[in-house]
Amino acid sequence: MDVFRKKDVNEILKHTSPLKRTLKTWDLTFLGIGAIIGTGIFVLTGKGALTAGPALSLSFLLAAICCGFAGLCYAEFASMAPVAGSAYTYSYIAFGEIIAFIIGWDLILEYALGAATVSVGWSGYFVNLISNLGIHIPTVLTAAIGTTPGVTTYFNLPAFVIVLVITWIISIGITQTKRVNDTMVIVKLFVIILFIVFTVWYIKPHNWQPFSPYGWYSFHGGTAAGIIPAASIVFFSFIGFDSVSSSAEETINPSKTLPRGILISLLISTVLYIIMTLIMTGVVKYTIFAKYLNAPILAVLHATGQTWLSIIVSVGAILGMTTVILVQLYGQSRITYSMSRDGLFPKFFGEVNPKFQTPFKGTWFFGIVTAIAGGLINLNILAELVNIGTLTAFTLVSAGILWMRHTHPELHRGFKAPGVPFTPIVAILFCLTLVAGLNWETWVRFIVWFAIGMLVYFGYAKGHSKLDPKNMANSAPTATDKGAD
Ligand code: ALA
Repeated sequence: MDVFRKKDVNEILKHTSPLKRTLKTWDLTFLGIGAIIGTGIFVLTGKGALTAGPALSLSFLLAAICCGFAGLCYAEFASMAPVAGSAYTYSYIAFGEIIAFIIGWDLILEYALGAATVSVGWSGYFVNLISNLGIHIPTVLTAAIGTTPGVTTYFNLPAFVIVLVITWIISIGITQTKRVNDTMVIVKLFVIILFIVFTVWYIKPHNWQPFSPYGWYSFHGGTAAGIIPAASIVFFSFIGFDSVSSSAEETINPSKTLPRGILISLLISTVLYIIMTLIMTGVVKYTIFAKYLNAPILAVLHATGQTWLSIIVSVGAILGMTTVILVQLYGQSRITYSMSRDGLFPKFFGEVNPKFQTPFKGTWFFGIVTAIAGGLINLNILAELVNIGTLTAFTLVSAGILWMRHTHPELHRGFKAPGVPFTPIVAILFCLTLVAGLNWETWVRFIVWFAIGMLVYFGYAKGHSKLDPKNMANSAPTATDKGAD
């Protein structure tokens, strides 16, 4: 069937652009940490602690294991097809066009809505910080409608503005340089270590009792609680490691360095997250986070009387989250750029601005949509949608490894995920478990998103695809075009 027409991996490899290979394992690790550590740990831990109690650290472990297995599958794909486009390109090779389109459509949730989610987290710390300095934004402009019961809010202005500022930076071609990323990663790690060193002494072990008040999965007041539902929320904290695989073309010896970069950045983040959540739930009773959902770390610093530290940590968190927004908006513009070059999205998204050498219009289109989403939608709704979209993409990439081993055993793989078929199967099972832990409302929103995607595919993409016979005469497939850097 023509909806399953595929890109030929050998054809794609022929078109690979000769980017300079400079990145090594530690560069990739820094890239990964730059994209991973953000709103998940600085903000969603509050909601996570209320959902799982002190057992939140186990939720982080669960989400990390899921990402570790999926990460091995990403690494194998990246080593087999070290080209731009990540999961979208991989699935175009493995399964064919319609699945690639679905992944690209899901990646809009991961990247654009992901950036919106982080901008809301950014706003919480920003509002707190400037109010410490005596500057107050009217409360109605600090959050989306209905964010806090009993508090009237209409729009999250700081979230809206930061997304537009970053969109402007990306649209004129200033992408994150390695030096900026490295500096931000060091700042993030520094504030986290500072937090750990200054608060660990205040742990009162009785706060850890009961350790798992809601068990693995239970219902309280009509909402799901426990270790699994909390893992489904804090899964967001690990999103971003897949951006490492997008650097395949710029990596020295990618077959070794890519999997190492992915796994080391995941490992470092996991260790830090688990230590932090044990401290957070050990210093204060987990129920206190209900009052600090915007900036849960500050609950701990206030309880220990170290308000001075809260300013340093807030600045670190704000800078750290800024780079995550940047990476995600950049990723979004490049995915839609690839899809547009393949004919699956209108030309508008693939047009490169001659002056800035960037997909300027596409970058602004998604920048504005993301800014509005950050202004109007509340954090938990956003984060859950991002998670379900990303978990679906992880599931398809893992299934893709099983399928490619079966259908293309001859292809050269610089890195082979160990334990296939066990590894992708475990990744899929973990992803599905985490999807099951999300709210039913999130499933409904996702199904609606999916249905809109199908309308776009059948209404536009299928007929405009470069792989469609009537379009093939005019142009060769160009999935690997990367020009707009
Ligand atoms: N993992 C990233 C964050 O937590 C998306 O902000």
